Amino acid sequence: MTATAIVTGGAGFIGSHLVDALLERGEEVLVIDDLSAGRSSIVNDRAQLRVLDIVDRDALQAAIEQARPKAVYHLAAQASVTASVADPQRDLLVNVLGTLNVVQAASRVDAPLVFTSTGGALYGDQAPRPTSEQWIPQPLSPYGASKWAAEAYVSTWSLSSGVPHAVCRLGNVYGPRQSPHGEAGVVAIFSHHIHSGRAPTIYGHGTPTRDYVYVSDVVDALIACSGRPGTFNIGTGLETDVLTLWSELARISGAQITPELADLRPGELQHSRLDISLAERQLAWRPRVEIADGLALTYSALQAEFEASEQVAR
Ligand SMILES: NC(=O)c1ccc[n+]([C@@H]2O[C@H](COP(=O)([O-])OP(=O)(O)OC[C@H]3O[C@@H](n4cnc5c(N)ncnc54)[C@H](O)[C@@H]3O)[C@@H](O)[C@H]2O)c1
Repeated sequence: MTATAIVTGGAGFIGSHLVDALLERGEEVLVIDDLSAGRSSIVNDRAQLRVLDIVDRDALQAAIEQARPKAVYHLAAQASVTASVADPQRDLLVNVLGTLNVVQAASRVDAPLVFTSTGGALYGDQAPRPTSEQWIPQPLSPYGASKWAAEAYVSTWSLSSGVPHAVCRLGNVYGPRQSPHGEAGVVAIFSHHIHSGRAPTIYGHGTPTRDYVYVSDVVDALIACSGRPGTFNIGTGLETDVLTLWSELARISGAQITPELADLRPGELQHSRLDISLAERQLAWRPRVEIADGLALTYSALQAEFEASEQVAR
């Protein structure tokens, strides 16, 4: 099974969009995913799918050596902050050991790797905003710690193997196909509540802010990063509070629902906004989708997805 590009986590939210974009560019794509959080139904038919756990080093290495890709995009992860607090050992296994396995295998076939780290869970509440890549991370959760540790392996392997691996620290990504069933993905969660007429719980009483970035802008950045060693924040440089986000979705949908307000959950941070000037300078990339447009696109795509999955269930 040969491929020009491998996407680990390609059956997940961001990975499935990246797969589509790579196929559009004429790449032959191999998806590696254990389907623990992803769905085979959102993997483009033109991509190949290998269901395997990246913690299984031998199976992963064999798949990458057989494919001999020109680029590897490593998105597979235990991506839930709450799950990382409940089971930090599993989080470490997937996010650190799994990443070491992927970067080692990519380096062996001279394929540059792009690793998706987090700009939200990494920097901590003490960071000045917008936060630059220079700020020393102070993660609040095992998830943030595991991403930081994994980044170190990616950068170390880049230096020691000479294969140019890159790290992208993503803001809060939103868009079609995001699952409304995790604890992140607030746009998908709110959209699902509106769809079913239920009041959402808004943690931190609606005041926490995040740097929300539309998924197609992230995909463009990941592709631009391939072969460019370095660590790049990928967001918009803007922050929006959760209550404003809810109000905008309620306006788009016309919903008349009063949300419930609650305290922040363990491991969650109060504010986040990324300095994206390094990526803008070095990758000739910039985010193009305004949040109002991105929310409208996401809301209507998700409503269609929810209706389609309800029809299948009936
Ligand atoms: N969504 C965001 O806002 C955001 C923000 C910052 C960073 N990230 C990072 O971006 C990447 C993609 O995130 P997403 O939102 O698409 O998450 P997602 O959960 O939709 O996708 C992750 C994919 O990885 C797969 N996976 C999990 N463990 C695996 C394992 N052991 N072996 C093989 N596959 C495995 C899952 O099945 C899933 O398809 C993750 O690395 C995440 O940490 C996401």
